[in-house]
Order: sequence, then C-alpha cells, then structure tokens
Amino acid sequence: MTKKEPLILAVDTSCDDTAAAILQGRTILSNVIASQTQLHKQYGGVFPTVAKQAHKENIAPTILAALKRAKVSWEDVDALAVTVGPGLAPALEVGITAIKELAIEKKLPLIAVNHIEGHAVSAIALRKTKITEDKSPVQKKESKINFPVLSVVVSGGHTQFIYFEEIGTYRILGTTIDDAAGECLDKIGRMLNLGYPAGPIIEKFAKLGNPKAIEFPLPMTSVKTYDMSFSGMKTFARNYIQRITEEKSLVKQAIYDFCASTQYAVFRHIIYKLNKLLEDIKISEIWLGGGVAQNVYLRQTIREAAKNHSIGKANKIIFRYPHTNKLCMDNAAMIGLVANFKFERGEFVSDFSKIDRKPRWEIGEKL
Ligand code: KG4
Ligand code: ZN
Repeated sequence: MTKKEPLILAVDTSCDDTAAAILQGRTILSNVIASQTQLHKQYGGVFPTVAKQAHKENIAPTILAALKRAKVSWEDVDALAVTVGPGLAPALEVGITAIKELAIEKKLPLIAVNHIEGHAVSAIALRKTKITEDKSPVQKKESKINFPVLSVVVSGGHTQFIYFEEIGTYRILGTTIDDAAGECLDKIGRMLNLGYPAGPIIEKFAKLGNPKAIEFPLPMTSVKTYDMSFSGMKTFARNYIQRITEEKSLVKQAIYDFCASTQYAVFRHIIYKLNKLLEDIKISEIWLGGGVAQNVYLRQTIREAAKNHSIGKANKIIFRYPHTNKLCMDNAAMIGLVANFKFERGEFVSDFSKIDRKPRWEIGEKL
C-alpha cells in the first residue's frame, strides 16, 4: 500500500478488554476488542487475576485480527504502541510484555501511551471512508481544531475535565475526589440487581421514567473548584432503596423512575461543574470521551452547555464526541491515535527495559 502517514499497531489491556487496532495517521483501519464482560459479570465488577489470564489468551489472536481487518502486514507497520497506565497492574503487564517482545522481534519503535489521554482525544479519530485507487484511506474532510480544548472524560474509572492548548500538554482542571461517574452508575445499578455494567441499562430504563421523581443531592456546590464527588449519591441511593423496600417491593415504574432520577442526578452534577468552568475559562472546543460518553442524554446536556456558553458565531464552542460507541469504551484505536501524535513528535521509548506498568499514571504527568 502507498504510505502517506505512519501506520501504527496499538494495544490496550488496561482493564477487562483485550484491544488491538491499526491506525494510519488519525484514521482507524481496524479496531478489534475481545470483551471480557461476560467473564466478569458474575463478580459484578472486574476481577484482576481473571482479567490477566483472559488477556494472555486473547492478546495474540486480537493483534492478528487487527492486522487482518486492516488488510496490512507486518512490513507495513511503522511503530507499535501500548497502554502503560493507568489501569489494573496485572492486566497492563500482559499488553506491555507482548508489545515489548514484538518490538524486539520486528525491530520496530515503541510508543508508551496513557489510557486517559486516549479517551481525551478519541473524539477526533477519523473513520476510514473510502478506498481510493492507490488503496490509501480517504479521510473525511477534517475540520480545523480550535484550541483551547476541554476534554470531558467520563468512564468507569475516571471523571475529569482536562484542559489543553496543544495535543500532548495537559492540565487537569477538575476530577472526582472519590468514585467515577460510571462507577457510581454501576454501583447503584448493582443495588437494584440491574446487571453489569449498569450504565447502559440505567440509560434504557431512564427513558421510561421521570427524572424528577426522586431528588438526589447536588454535591460540592459550595466548593469553588471544578472537582466532583459521586459517593454521596451512592449513599443516598442505598438509603432510599432500603427505606422504600422495607415498606413495599419496587414495581417496574418505580425502578424506571429511580433510574431516570439517578441518571439525571449524576449528569446534573457534571454539568453544574462544567457550566462553572465555562463561565470562568475560555474554551473553544469540548471533546467528550470514555464509556459513559455513549449516553445520549449526557451528550445532549453537554451540547446544550456548549451552546449556552457560545457568544455569537465567532466564539462558538464546538462539541465533539467519538464517531462510534466502540471508540467510547476501552479500545486500542484511541491509543493508536495518541501514538500517532507522539510519533510526529518523535516520542519513542528509547530503552525497552525501562518501560513498565504505571497503574496510577495521571494524564499530563511525565512518563
Ligand atoms: O471507558 P469504559 O469502557 O471503561 C473504563 O475505562 O472505565 O467505561 C465503562 C463505564 C461503565 O461504568 C459503564 O456502566 C459506563 O461506562 N457506560 C455507560 C453507558 N455505556 C457504558 N454509562 C451510561 N450510559 C451508557 N450508555
Ligand atoms: Zn477507559
């Protein structure tokens, strides 16, 4: 194939999905995910040693599937990329070991990537649209990026507002001080035996319920920072369910109302802090990322916030979110995307023996 931009093979094994992808520049050629959701369902969360074993079994076939689906061979690959953190240490180890071995065997440069940076930029990954005669992917005409950008990462492990004036240099403006938003939805869903992960089920049920039926507390309103907290909502939910179920069992409509109210409360808190931030700081674009970014109601409310803080056409805040749901959840395409920017900047791992897991690696922190 004719090469225009670097072709990168990326891997992510940070949590419970074994993922591999091929990117050419910002364009995704393949994005393969071997999900372990069914395996972990019985535990109601991710069990690290089970995840590690499953990653070991899945990693080689997932990488081969990514190459095959992208219709490329090893000779086409210019660099390898892997998530080194944050995530579960035993799970991260599997991806790092596999990519290190491949980098040595295939004599390819290696790029270490932060998983949250992947979620933070996932909104600008491009889909492969057409294959031209020279078989190179034609990218959708990409609109120019206007900085500063605020990434809103909402996942099962993180809830953060990340500010940047260029890709690669990040500042966390606000973060949850306890549970992540997705974690909160999953924990509340568990109280009602909704199944795991509960986020998508809560979204489905919320469509049938009244979001104002139960009034959850709005946390951190007297705190001036853009930090968030979701553990109080969890406690409120537990107390409420206990009190109600003492008297009667929850009928279907009561569950729908409860889900609608929970979803409303979790997102109201994020939007409250986002609005505050947009009042104080000039932002040109908002990029949403992370598993919870699949939620249509969350997208709507962020789009509204962006619109409300846009002043005329000249200062319109552009809102972007990933072009497929697969790019919201844990995936390797977003890791390949970050690696593409690092490739351009020449940020490679020079000594393979030094690359190790960084389970608590914050975005913006040096490797
Ligand atoms: O990004 P992700 O796949 O994994 C982490 O890095 O955490 O996010 C998983 C989280 C789970 O908490 C799940 O409940 C939530 O994303 N989630 C949703 C939806 N789909 C997934 N939350 C709300 N609405 C959804 N549609
Ligand atoms: Zn994630």
